Amino acid sequence: MPKVFVTRPIPRTGLQLLVDAFGKASVTVSPHDRVITREELLAGVKGVDGLLPILTDTVDAAVMNAAGPQLKIIANFAVGYDNIDVAAATKRNIAVTNTPGVLTDTTADLAWAILMCVARRISESERCLRAGKWAGWGPQFMLGVDVHGKTLGIFGMGRIGRAVARRAAGFGMRIIYHDSARLEEAAEKHLNATYVAKETLVTESDFISIHVPFLPETTHAFGAAELKAMKKTACLINTSRGPIVDEAELASALKAGEIFAAGLDVYEQEPKVHPALLECENAVLVPHLGSASRDTRGKMAEIAAGNIVALLKGETPPNCVNPEVL
Ligand code: GLV
Repeated sequence: MPKVFVTRPIPRTGLQLLVDAFGKASVTVSPHDRVITREELLAGVKGVDGLLPILTDTVDAAVMNAAGPQLKIIANFAVGYDNIDVAAATKRNIAVTNTPGVLTDTTADLAWAILMCVARRISESERCLRAGKWAGWGPQFMLGVDVHGKTLGIFGMGRIGRAVARRAAGFGMRIIYHDSARLEEAAEKHLNATYVAKETLVTESDFISIHVPFLPETTHAFGAAELKAMKKTACLINTSRGPIVDEAELASALKAGEIFAAGLDVYEQEPKVHPALLECENAVLVPHLGSASRDTRGKMAEIAAGNIVALLKGETPPNCVNPEVL
């Protein structure tokens, strides 16, 4: 029977699929509900045919070599797979899979939750109330910015970006977007979204929501220049990957009042958060919860496990990101 290693306990539905397919003895789950250490990972992968890592595990050539030549699939528990060296996997004929689709709406919901928190200063005002500092209703107390009728700029119009755009309809927003590729005209019409250059998105948006993958070309896509060019009343929301925003520059911009506020779900060096950001009352800081609903995490576990079962049973895994190896 093939052997499978799961780097951290995941929802039961996914584990059950693996056990049903290969038997209990074939499936090893790291016993620790924390990020696996490099040593534990290198030891755990030895001799396995399938690896199910989570997005905080770095799966590079050394991990693949430690597993051995029988390793056939790395099934990431995430839609993003920047933690995996896909080129190294392809070179070794190892399939890499992810969990797209199922978390689209859940992540878009969180982007909107953060957007609303940022606009209406929900976290900051609750901190004030809990600290016993609320002196009662005031005509100028904790004034935020309106969401309805404003311009939403979506940076990255993939599955999640489009789901964020759909939600904006209820707020009567003007939607502009930028991406490396433009949507078909029919899709733009359906979403009521207008394609613009990045510079236009940066200067005209009241809210910018980031939904691009982490790639060399998206690294620090929002740095000092972009933050300076944004409206002073604008808000920046990032639920994709941390390194797309320069955290040090963002903290400076927030402190200097160059933008109104920011909301982050992702960070450059998770779980570390830039200390200057922690000092910003106008930053809403969420600990990477984009896909963190009970339903969605259960489905992600099933999808990741399903990809392993399919490949190791000689079928095509549904979510292969390097199909050239199949
Ligand atoms: C979460 O960040 C994911 O990529 O699934």
